[in-house]
Amino acid sequence: MVVSTKSAAWRKPLALALQVAVHIGAALPLLWLFYAINAGRLGGDPVVELIHYLGLGTLRLLLLTLLISPLARWLGYGQLNRLRRPLGLWAFAWASLHFSAWMALDLGFDWSLIGSELVKRTYILLGFSAWLMLLALAITSLPALMRRMGKSWKKLHRLLYVVVLLACWHFWWSVKSGWIEPAIYLCVALLLLLWRREGVSRWLRSFKR
Ligand code: HEM
Repeated sequence: MVVSTKSAAWRKPLALALQVAVHIGAALPLLWLFYAINAGRLGGDPVVELIHYLGLGTLRLLLLTLLISPLARWLGYGQLNRLRRPLGLWAFAWASLHFSAWMALDLGFDWSLIGSELVKRTYILLGFSAWLMLLALAITSLPALMRRMGKSWKKLHRLLYVVVLLACWHFWWSVKSGWIEPAIYLCVALLLLLWRREGVSRWLRSFKR
């Protein structure tokens, strides 16, 4: 009993430290990006570089969000679940910057062009659908809405799985040549989704024991 009380003592501060690390880890690359844009360090085609950087960052944040709950269960460390909300919201912020960079810098806020690209290019439509779902998840992450939605909140937030798969598909179709990088991201996403399955996670826990 004494041991569990003592071991519980570091759990909350660690969770807090991890939350701070999430905010720093998600904000620092944006500060670097800001510096790189001003210093002209984004290569020969800075707009494309910027869009790609933000797109990849979004996908990594989404995968990290997906990692949290099976990892928390595997480690028996429920406090880790507190990282899901900030990670998900940062993923939404990065996705919105990615989307805005495309609308502003690539298409100069030409709304008719934006509309026609959305219907003409399937990979853009996939990215846009993923962004719309993320928007719904971000709005319903407000504590008051979470409480009001009760059980349906959990159901709605399973949309994250669809978002991750759409994002991988969007990535796959957006690349002009080479499929290895999108394939790696897709495999990671599928493994993370598989890990959430009760049978698989029980099997992994038996190895841990
Ligand atoms: C959850 C949302 C999204 C994620 C995770 C995401 C992710 C990505 C990734 C990983 C790439 C490829 C980066 C690379 O090649 O290094 C990419 C490219 C791109 N995405 Fe997204 N994206 C999202 C939403 C959107 C939206 C809403 C739009 C616009 C409507 C969009 C437009 C683009 C464009 C134009 C490219 C560049 C394609 C090219 O190379 O020509 N994305 N995105």
